[in-house]
Amino acid sequence: TETRSINLAVIAGDGIGPEIVSQAERVLDRVAELDGFSIEKTPYSLGAAHWLETGETLSEETLAALAQHDAILFGAVGADPRSAEVPSGLIEREVLLKLRFAFDHFINLRPSRLFPGAVSPLSNPGDIDFVVVREGTEGPYAGNGGVLRKGTPAEIATEVSLNTAHGIERLVRYAFELANSRQRKKLTLVHKTNVLVNAGQLYSRYFNEIAAEYPEVETDYCHIDAATIYLTTDPSRFDVIVTDNLFGDILTDQAGAVTGGIGYAACGNINASREFPSMFEPVHGSAPDIAGQNVANPTATILAAAMLLRHLGREDSAARIERAVEKDLAAHPGATRSTDQVASDILERLG
Ligand code: NAI
Ligand code: MG
Repeated sequence: TETRSINLAVIAGDGIGPEIVSQAERVLDRVAELDGFSIEKTPYSLGAAHWLETGETLSEETLAALAQHDAILFGAVGADPRSAEVPSGLIEREVLLKLRFAFDHFINLRPSRLFPGAVSPLSNPGDIDFVVVREGTEGPYAGNGGVLRKGTPAEIATEVSLNTAHGIERLVRYAFELANSRQRKKLTLVHKTNVLVNAGQLYSRYFNEIAAEYPEVETDYCHIDAATIYLTTDPSRFDVIVTDNLFGDILTDQAGAVTGGIGYAACGNINASREFPSMFEPVHGSAPDIAGQNVANPTATILAAAMLLRHLGREDSAARIERAVEKDLAAHPGATRSTDQVASDILERLG
């Protein structure tokens, strides 16, 4: 069954989404050919343009159809030349967040590597190679909040941070497994346990309890504010970081910046229990300022495709893509190339 075909859903989305996703598809097709498997792709039209044309954000029918796939490759949504007609945040909430909640993407996985040839804004970046395991469904992003006395000087706004034992345990277990599988075997918990004491204690308790099951994994703890300092002054101290939804959001943007920018940052929205398809995407958005110009960097989306293959058990094919990206970057340091040229250069190095 190792030659089984991958049943892939493709959501290209808006702005540069279609440009970068079509290049990642070229890479996927070539790797499948080289490694002897097949990929059956089904495109789904979702995003701002789709909403403007049909009034659909993400219907139950579309969700049910998406649920049948092995995985989802996602570009970016949220911008269209007619954007003024799209209510602010509608697409993000009703497409992106809805997908993450409906498919229980409780792991948000963001690897950060400084590839040779990528330029870090840090003068002495060192050897950066870490992964942030961010919680994906809880914390202040769970949607538990509201407004009272709106429009008055006494207005009240709340976003309650939800943290469940179930959610933390599965997150922390995933992070220990990942750390244990890596060479350095180091896991850092990032939180703010001194101030956010209730959630902090729940996180610390599970972290320490599960640590006992992984004696080979070295553990560490940083407050979020200190973590942002270390990420700038000494990023190579990190191997795997586990953290909550909000801290992870902030930390991974900073991680993207220190590793040479948004053109290389990929992420996985992972349902680690495998009841639903996981979704892989570049960290960046739909970049309306450069859409349609064939200048967007497709590398982050190509690296997202590698993560997708790894999730589906195709480690060799994933590594093949990552090696090709590495060689490509090393061969073209700081070069400005068109979107399809970058993909062609990576294709040539696939082996
Ligand atoms: P953005 O990431 O789209 O763009 C920020 C800056 O980075 C822009 O100058 C853009 O040109 C540049 N950039 C982004 N990707 C690039 C690439 N592959 N190659 C070269 N340059 C690139 O973020 P922004 O401008 O805040 O958001 C634009 C739209 O994207 C908004 O509607 C936003 O809601 C949406 N968005 C969607 C996301 C998603 O679908 N996952 C994530 C973030 C934003
Ligand atoms: Mg973000």
